[in-house]
Amino acid sequence: MINIYERSPVINWILLAIAVLIGIASIIYTNSLVNRILFQEERQIALFAKGQEFLATAEPSENLNFLMEEIIASNNSIPVILTDEKGNPIGSRNLELPEKTSQHQTFLLEEIAKMKKEHTPIVLTLDSASNMKQFVYYRNSSLVYQLRYFPYVQLTVILIFFTLVYSLFSYSRKAEQNRVWVGLAKETAHQLGTPLSSLIAWVEYLNIDENVEKEVVIELEKDVKRFETITARFSSIGSVPALKAENIKEVLEECVNYLQKRVSSKVSFLLHIKDDEIPVPMNKSLFEWVIENLCKNAVDAMNGVGYIDIYVSHTKDDKGLVIDIKDTGKGIPKSKLKTVFRPGFTTKKRGWGLGLALAKRIVENYHDGKIFVLRSEIDLGTTFRIILPLFDAKS
Ligand SMILES: Nc1ncnc2c1ncn2[C@@H]1O[C@H](COP(=O)(O)OP(=O)(O)O)[C@@H](O)[C@H]1O
Ligand SMILES: [Mg+2]
Repeated sequence: MINIYERSPVINWILLAIAVLIGIASIIYTNSLVNRILFQEERQIALFAKGQEFLATAEPSENLNFLMEEIIASNNSIPVILTDEKGNPIGSRNLELPEKTSQHQTFLLEEIAKMKKEHTPIVLTLDSASNMKQFVYYRNSSLVYQLRYFPYVQLTVILIFFTLVYSLFSYSRKAEQNRVWVGLAKETAHQLGTPLSSLIAWVEYLNIDENVEKEVVIELEKDVKRFETITARFSSIGSVPALKAENIKEVLEECVNYLQKRVSSKVSFLLHIKDDEIPVPMNKSLFEWVIENLCKNAVDAMNGVGYIDIYVSHTKDDKGLVIDIKDTGKGIPKSKLKTVFRPGFTTKKRGWGLGLALAKRIVENYHDGKIFVLRSEIDLGTTFRIILPLFDAKS
């Protein structure tokens, strides 16, 4: 059993969890910073109000005035509006007023409405005898707002970065896998080529020889044909194969006939297809490879006894062909439904775990189709589904 692919998704989740933890930690930390700054600003504004009150009530000659002016001037970040008793603005600080003076009044009134929602205004009692009052409206400095949104910006940046790195890695891993598949297939086709052409020559030679039994030559020819098909498969998967219109019924019938002869007679194949003629764009030798792999797996899963049903139908929108391959085998556990397609995953003593990976590659990369486990129940059986795009009705 080779199971080299089991651990990689776990690492991805751990990395994602770390990214989210960093984000949460940063939100908590900035929140505490914000709270501290808020506290500071409240104190500063209280002092500011005191200064205003003092200046308004003090005699012009009072020698603490300079100190109060200093305090008022030191507020250069918190936006404030001073109003009279009736709420008419009489002054403001740290607000960007509109250019036209005529708009100042409306602008300030709007600001006051917003400020009211954030903080209750500070009341200045200017003359306790006549009960004359002023109000200081204020809101938090822009620093607080920026700081509040900062962790979310940070979290987004971290997540974008994480996705980018992840897709880059998975892209390069796929690219590497591609090179291995293609290289290995090309190499195999190349190596098989030489003995194959000499075998073909030998068969021709034997064909002329009167002393050799015809039966033997015919059998030999069949094997050489098969050998040719295999070489063609490796050569097509190593390049971009051209797709040709093939009648799916014929292709499947050929596969079934070929397989039925070679597996135990206790396995019965049954092909369910209504239309006699459905042209499908495909590379025949590769597609047969898919069907053979699926059927061989089915035979293995049934320990050589059972039924393999192949159903052909159309997708709802009629744009695709659906091929279901159903067996009565031991089934696949729910947790492994996706894993079975990974190269190297096998549960067999002598398995390579390449059959389904190859099938997926052929269906998805070369035929633009889909392959997945439609359903599987332990000890009852499994159905694999292939969806192939059909020719566009218009073209
Ligand atoms: N029809 C099926 N029923 C049950 N298990 C299956 C079936 N097809 C595939 N599997 C599981 O998927 C694994 C991978 O299949 P495959 O990629 O063809 O590799 P291999 O046949 O070499 O094991 C098999 O080992 C088996 O556990
Ligand atoms: Mg297999």
